[in-house]
Amino acid sequence: TYVVTENCIRCKFMDCVEVCPVDCFYAGDNFLVINPDECIDCGVCEPECPAEAIVPDSDDRAAAWAEINASYSAKWPNIIRKGTPPADAEEWKDKPNKKDLLSA
Ligand code: F3S
Repeated sequence: TYVVTENCIRCKFMDCVEVCPVDCFYAGDNFLVINPDECIDCGVCEPECPAEAIVPDSDDRAAAWAEINASYSAKWPNIIRKGTPPADAEEWKDKPNKKDLLSA
């Protein structure tokens, strides 16, 4: 499965949802997650993310985020169309240590 990681926080570009063939993204206020039970591991979303937030679960960066993707995908609404990203999304791109800013 693929996992959305910290880089997505406050960027929420949503290019990922447009390419997902199984619509497995779920949206919070400033972050998206992937439902691990629905992801078919196709990988098309990974290169679409301008923030490089999506990684395969084999990636070291995935470990800390796998549970967050699993739990929030059960709570947040499904998203299948790209909306308007935050106005300051570009400013948050590549910023480190955003984990505490995740709006749950
Ligand atoms: Fe987030 Fe990247 Fe999608 S910033 S909303 S994972 S395109």
